[in-house]
Amino acid sequence: MNDNRFVIEKFEPKNTYYQQKKFDCGNHIINKFVHSSLKKQVSQQFSQAFVLLDLENKERFSAFYTLTSFKLNANDLESLSQGSLPRDIPCVRLVMLGVDTSIQGQGIGRKMMSDALHRVHRASKDIGIYGLYLDAEPSAINFYLSLGFTRLDGGGSEDIGKMFLSISVINQLLD
Ligand SMILES: CC(C)(COP(=O)(O)OP(=O)(O)OC[C@H]1O[C@@H](n2cnc3c(N)ncnc32)[C@H](O)[C@@H]1OP(=O)(O)O)[C@@H](O)C(=O)NCCC(=O)NCCS
Repeated sequence: MNDNRFVIEKFEPKNTYYQQKKFDCGNHIINKFVHSSLKKQVSQQFSQAFVLLDLENKERFSAFYTLTSFKLNANDLESLSQGSLPRDIPCVRLVMLGVDTSIQGQGIGRKMMSDALHRVHRASKDIGIYGLYLDAEPSAINFYLSLGFTRLDGGGSEDIGKMFLSISVINQLLD
């Protein structure tokens, strides 16, 4: 991958992004969200989004992820057995991640996740954040496991996976 080809920037709901309406990551729900709901979600402050632009293709909207604040329950983290925890655990949730099918399998998903971890790491210096949580599509669970996430539930390979990466691990990676 040419490192200068892509740039990740904060999604600005006032901007128009080239081919956002044609974004296709292979997941119908995520595609529909990008086409119809992303702008509104961000302008209402329900999430912030970060978009990957392809500089070799008119700054095409090529990948994105969204982050929001979230609360886990101490029971959700039982499997990590880290001693007693308060009932409510403050986290960041990665709600959506998608890479256009035309550029999947080239390390872009990993690059987007690295960008997200850096943001969570920085935010955790100012706001209490215990870790990064996400609900993974069954087909993406192995992708997140390969990045160091732990699966919190005992679900099978056909179920949505509740995935978690603690801030202590993120700090070890990035401090
Ligand atoms: C999941 C997704 C974001 C991965 O993006 P990508 O750019 O193809 O991923 P990368 O090329 O960065 O791959 C990173 C690593 O994960 C692996 N990987 C990628 N997708 C995978 C998958 N679905 N299952 C298992 N491993 C996967 C790759 O082999 C690679 O491993 P390596 O570095 O050891 O070679 C992308 O496939 C996508 O948008 N899928 C549809 C939407 C979706 O499922 N989003 C997640 C919802 S929770």
